[in-house]
Amino acid sequence: MKELSNITSFSPISNLVVQTATMPISPIFNPQGNDDIAHRTMWFGETTNLMQLNDVRYTWAVGLYMQMREQFWIPQKLDVTQDVVDYWNLTPQERYAYNGILSYLTFLDSVQTCNIPHIKSSITAPEISLCMSEQISQEAMHNHSYQYLIESIIPPEQRHAVYDFWRTDKVLFSRCQFVAELYQKYVSNPTQENYFIALIADYLLEGMYFYNGFIFFYNLASRMLMPGSADVFKLINRDELSHVRLYQRVVTEAMQVFPHSVDTIYEMFDQAVNHECQWTNHIVGNNILGITEQSTEQYTKYLANIRLRAIGLDSLYKEAKYQKSPYTHLERFSDTKKEGNTKSNFFEATVTSYVMSSGISGWDEI
Ligand SMILES: [Fe+2]
Ligand SMILES: [Fe+2]
Repeated sequence: MKELSNITSFSPISNLVVQTATMPISPIFNPQGNDDIAHRTMWFGETTNLMQLNDVRYTWAVGLYMQMREQFWIPQKLDVTQDVVDYWNLTPQERYAYNGILSYLTFLDSVQTCNIPHIKSSITAPEISLCMSEQISQEAMHNHSYQYLIESIIPPEQRHAVYDFWRTDKVLFSRCQFVAELYQKYVSNPTQENYFIALIADYLLEGMYFYNGFIFFYNLASRMLMPGSADVFKLINRDELSHVRLYQRVVTEAMQVFPHSVDTIYEMFDQAVNHECQWTNHIVGNNILGITEQSTEQYTKYLANIRLRAIGLDSLYKEAKYQKSPYTHLERFSDTKKEGNTKSNFFEATVTSYVMSSGISGWDEI
């Protein structure tokens, strides 16, 4: 591993000047390494960088990887023909939100595809790299699924506008910049402190940023609109929940390894909630039947609370209404609470049979 060098960095989150060290990047091949479990750690290990998966320290990661692989799906095999008709029966506000949310989700999956390799390059437990490799593949495929929806449903002359919406929409641009900056901060200045912040930012993206978008599509599906889009988002939702589970574990481990301030984590969550609500109010607001600015706030704060509790911290928003989702009636459309979190219209037989026959270990504990 590279020698750690002490440098001073400035944290825009906490406005503190802190002493920190450069984050080591694993070598391509390290003949002096030691892959024994006793030497294996998530970071700062002595890995040879062989994918030695015979004896793993983080057994849950192998179970999670198998689950992620079993979730394999191909967006182009989902039927969206009804959506092509439904799109023109949406209200103008619903079409605006449909296109805008696709723009935003395209951004999120694009930055994940770009950023996770940076996070992964410092991982020294191959079973964690295994999960992140699969995650990168899934994030790229999610972008392909957005293209499938855009190409199938949105008229040709409007397709580029979906990709370019951030260029003209100031709120989306500011949203994209906020998300990207926390990652860029680490890439530009790869300190251990910035690595930890990038991990929390990653957990926020996986755990909070997609879900108001998903709710919009499930809401349409609950009114018998755009069922093919909802099917696509069900499967993306299922993938994202496996990423949430990955980062719940990774962040919890990081909190044991990296010096950090819990106040900074809470501050990042609160900022993330504010940005997410601002964006959702802008693109959805009170204009869609079944969603209001109040339900968006309640849902986003509820999500923040459950994600915080999942990493061993307290809820940030104490009021009783923030302890429950306002959208439980849409859960049957998300289909993420059923056995194996796997069913969908198209893949029901195939995917369910994979899960039912696999007997995966290590999943229940996550
Ligand atoms: Fe994704
Ligand atoms: Fe993800």
